[in-house]
Amino acid sequence: MTDSGVEPNAKPPASVLFVCLGNICRSPLAEGIFRRLLNETGLGKEIHVDSAGTGAWHVGGAPDTRSIETAARHGLDIAGQRARKVRDADFENFGLILAMDRSNRDTLLARAPASARNRIHLFMEHSLGISADVPDPYYGAGDGFEAVYRMLEEGSSALVEKLVAGRRSLSG
Ligand code: 4NP
Repeated sequence: MTDSGVEPNAKPPASVLFVCLGNICRSPLAEGIFRRLLNETGLGKEIHVDSAGTGAWHVGGAPDTRSIETAARHGLDIAGQRARKVRDADFENFGLILAMDRSNRDTLLARAPASARNRIHLFMEHSLGISADVPDPYYGAGDGFEAVYRMLEEGSSALVEKLVAGRRSLSG
């Protein structure tokens, strides 16, 4: 229960998990960008943010150097993140699970218990209402990472705005 008397389950999702394939390119950027925006709006302590991959190739590894460098160009340090694979417990623990592309969204939906399926969404669709993938930049040229960064920044801003607006209307 909050000061405003709002029921706990009327709050915005208290945790967000970003999911891509390797958890070294897109979702670490999403995690870093979203966390910074939350901190800037004062919601940083209230919402737990994490990222994971549907694949296990890079578990325990740092983000791809191209993601680290792209983030650094925008004043964001994501070098301390370590890749992990999606765990069964994630489907219980996260209020919102956002996949970077349809392929990973479908992998999550196939694996999730029925009770968790309505918490799994495509990142661009959920944040901006655009039915688009955040493209996998791993095998492409370096500028793919900058394009990914911009998509993630735009979507994350919209998501944080919604969370802030939701809180305002709840406490209004
Ligand atoms: P991510 O990119 O899913 O954005 O982390 C990839 C990273 C590694 C691989 C594929 C995509 N891989 O095949 O190793």
